Amino acid sequence: NSIEKGSFTWSSPSNIALIKYWGKKEHQIPENPSVSFTLDNCKTTTTLGFTKKENQDDFSFDVFLDGDKKDDFKPKIETFFKRIEVYLPFLRNYHFKIETSNTFPHSSGIASSASGMSALTMCLMSIEKLLMEPYGTLIKAERSLTDDFFIQKASFLARLGSGSACRSLEGDLVVWGKHSEIDGSSDLFGIKYPFKVHENFKNYQDTILLVDKGEKQVSSTVGHNLMYGHPFAQERFKQAHKNLSNLIEVFKEGDLDTFIEIVEGEALTLHAMMMTSMPYFILMKPNTLEIINKIWSFRQATNSKVCFTLDAGANVHLLYPENECEQVCEFVKNELVAFCQKGQYINDKIGFGAKQL
Ligand code: PMV
Repeated sequence: NSIEKGSFTWSSPSNIALIKYWGKKEHQIPENPSVSFTLDNCKTTTTLGFTKKENQDDFSFDVFLDGDKKDDFKPKIETFFKRIEVYLPFLRNYHFKIETSNTFPHSSGIASSASGMSALTMCLMSIEKLLMEPYGTLIKAERSLTDDFFIQKASFLARLGSGSACRSLEGDLVVWGKHSEIDGSSDLFGIKYPFKVHENFKNYQDTILLVDKGEKQVSSTVGHNLMYGHPFAQERFKQAHKNLSNLIEVFKEGDLDTFIEIVEGEALTLHAMMMTSMPYFILMKPNTLEIINKIWSFRQATNSKVCFTLDAGANVHLLYPENECEQVCEFVKNELVAFCQKGQYINDKIGFGAKQL
């Protein structure tokens, strides 16, 4: 092809799973379906510059985070490129400059893999689209290269970078993994939640309490692998399907009490799987538990529907309806900030996915 150089910029958000993905088969195929809220403020912006090169033997790229060269990010991206080069054959033809920045503090314990991998993938898809342009009419006639196809392929590729990244491209709710009640759901890519969602969930809020900003002792890759041969794995995978079926009903009816039960149960089950694997490990910190207990007391004392969920770490996500913003903000300031590292927390809400800048 004749394109010598160029650059694309995309921003892509993080997401928070309500039904958790924990355990995978080969090729990043999840053992169970998951569903997540796409976030709005917590995002990665990536500019991908590309320049044609002579030698096509190796991948060639440099990575910068906030302007600083980051060679320690290279192995993960190299692995990603190896996995996706069959789908994006131009990867060895260019030298890439990957410049990335996050809206949330680096190593705040908020995973940047979903937002980072999805932003990079969208940049790569923009290059693919550009290179395809001369063949546009032919392709359109053959398989209609619509936005849907673009986003589906992007999600498919992002999954190969980091599983949960495939749920960050769209909003506001994304399902990844085959589920009998959701037509079009797939283990290979995320899809927008296809059913109507009750207005109770409109603009749902997520306040992220930063409990521990340290590096995780156990990576999610290691954690997923510990589900092989885990004594409770098969029951857990079944439970995720059942919880998703129940959540579909909750989204239809707007029943926030059942929502709380499912979401908090999923978070604790995720951590229970970690505590019962071999080797076992604990990612929650004492302050994680202090916060959970405070939330439970607060719900008992008020009519609030605030609930928590957890990622693979110690931070706590507070989920609550928009009309509780004031009440929950007060609660955070008065009772929870004390348990956050350096008093840090991030107010976020449901968002709508990746954007080209
Ligand atoms: O995308 P990964 O491989 O980092 O796994 C993420 C797993 C959890 O965040 C714990 C759950 C989820 O579904 O996002």
